[in-house]
Amino acid sequence: MIDEDPCADLQKISNPFQPEMMRIIRKFDLIDDVRFFQIRPLNASRALALSYKPGQFMMISNLGVGEAPFSISSSPSRPGLLEFCIRKVGHLTSSLFRLKENDFIGVRGPYGNGFPLDRLKKHDLIITVGGLGAAPLRSLLLYVLDNRDEFGEIYFLYGAKTPHEMLFRKEFLDLIDREDVHCLLTVDKDDTGKWPANIGFVTKLFEQVKGIDPKNTFVPICGPPIMYKSVLKKLLELKIPKHQILMNLERRMECGIGKCGHCVVKHLYTCIDGPVFTYWDVINMKELIY
Ligand SMILES: Cc1cc2nc3c(=O)[nH]c(=O)nc-3n(C[C@H](O)[C@H](O)[C@H](O)COP(=O)(O)OP(=O)(O)OC[C@H]3O[C@@H](n4cnc5c(N)ncnc54)[C@H](O)[C@@H]3O)c2cc1C
Ligand code: FES
Repeated sequence: MIDEDPCADLQKISNPFQPEMMRIIRKFDLIDDVRFFQIRPLNASRALALSYKPGQFMMISNLGVGEAPFSISSSPSRPGLLEFCIRKVGHLTSSLFRLKENDFIGVRGPYGNGFPLDRLKKHDLIITVGGLGAAPLRSLLLYVLDNRDEFGEIYFLYGAKTPHEMLFRKEFLDLIDREDVHCLLTVDKDDTGKWPANIGFVTKLFEQVKGIDPKNTFVPICGPPIMYKSVLKKLLELKIPKHQILMNLERRMECGIGKCGHCVVKHLYTCIDGPVFTYWDVINMKELIY
């Protein structure tokens, strides 16, 4: 005679693929095809308990449509909310663009290794960004600014094609006047005639980076693949050690937790071992950059 449910233990096992529903608090367009989403768990204590590292990502779903990975743009130093920048490129992202404030989305994570904050502390940083790379690196920048005493000199170098294509343009322009961060912004072309910062490629901004000790400097980078070649050349000229160049890379992902194998490059699961890789990793695994 069976006197207890044989599946009781199975029912207690939580499903790692089950998303948690969160509410969209705020959304607005950052640029033409990129929308900012601020979301929050339904329960206030759960919201305050959210924990993650800059450089990690979440799987975001619209139930009945699908899910995909998105970098976290908010900082764990500002608890209670999660922020994302989402570019409309296809089926899922178009459906997310149709959602309104107060609607729900599914979220699971955080996943990935994120930036090694403990190793970055006490060092100088040159945070280098191109285009949509601002999504993950804004998280790191906010974290560093909120914990300013724990880091050395901070450079933030961000290049966009035009002023209209710069994410968080106003937020970053406001940083230019701060004395505790060197915020260097550039656009390839000024289509407004009123752009108050630099014009030229992001690599040109390195001419304004002064007084750093390469051995004591980490360079977190995220941008389009085309940016890496010229930036990496500059960093090697500056004698930044390869293991201190930290690249936030995107690969096609499905599960985000090391099960499906979609993101594997040789022996690396980019959803677990990445998305942050050192330049040494990339040299040894050329397929990491498309
Ligand atoms: C770790 C990680 C972090 C990411 N962070 C962000 C982010 O912060 N903001 C953001 O907008 N996007 C981010 N992405 C990309 C995002 O996951 C894809 O854009 C999303 O899957 C598109 O879904 P879709 O159904 O709308 O488009 P689909 O219909 O699946 O695809 C539309 C087009 O986009 C291309 N595409 C889809 N996924 C990728 C990808 N991973 N890399 C390159 N091309 C792709 C397809 O080849 C196709 O041409 C991230 C991806 C990864 C792996
Ligand atoms: S995304 Fe499935 S194993 Fe990495």
